[in-house]
Amino acid sequence: MPAHVAIIMDGNGRWAQQRGLPRSEGHHVGNIAAHEMVYGALEIGLRHLTLYAFSTENWKRDTDEITTILEAMQCDLDQGPIRDLDVRQRWLGHPDKLPEELVQALRREERRTRNRTALTLTVCINYGGRDEITRTAAALAQAARAGDIDPHLISEDDFARHLPHPDMPDVDLLWRTGNEQRTSNFLPWHAAYAELHFTSGYWPDVDRRDL
Ligand code: IPE
Ligand code: IPE
Ligand code: MG
Repeated sequence: MPAHVAIIMDGNGRWAQQRGLPRSEGHHVGNIAAHEMVYGALEIGLRHLTLYAFSTENWKRDTDEITTILEAMQCDLDQGPIRDLDVRQRWLGHPDKLPEELVQALRREERRTRNRTALTLTVCINYGGRDEITRTAAALAQAARAGDIDPHLISEDDFARHLPHPDMPDVDLLWRTGNEQRTSNFLPWHAAYAELHFTSGYWPDVDRRDL
């Protein structure tokens, strides 16, 4: 039984295209699939589930599509079905460019659910692995300049301690749907030794049994 499963939820756009629907519809149904994963994780007793919801590269998409994706997140945080489950919700990513209201809601839900214990759900929004590593290196450089750490003695553990969520365990299983075999800047530090699992189906078609 893995302790930490991380998922690249890919294929929403192609799922919609295949049906002659707008991409927004793919994101809408994809959101329901994400809820399914949370129910499934609770059912099997998974401790950590991490979902890639919006990457630093996704800003290159049309404004309308970005708005659809971010609005669905806001709606989930304010009134979604996950809110009352025994789930500690966390956000991994950077506030830059995100709507202020969304950032507030992400921080609010982190505070509100911090003492829950069954599942830690980390949602990656405006997340990029290189961005994370760069910022962590910058934090270490600050610590070295302040004299808190000797730059000659920096270890992997020191690096891990300066990550945004130092207690996040390594990824055991990295699953990507949507028929692409790449990791798209997702969790390079935590997934360095993960099993990789690529499936061909599109994200809106998955349910908890797939997990
Ligand atoms: C994943 O589905 C959702 C996000 C990246 C936000 P896509 O929107 O990438 O769907 P495809 O890959 O275009 O089918
Ligand atoms: C990865 O999917 C990002 C998310 C699922 C949020 P993309 O569809 O954005 O990845 P690329 O661009 O095909 O690598
Ligand atoms: Mg995609």
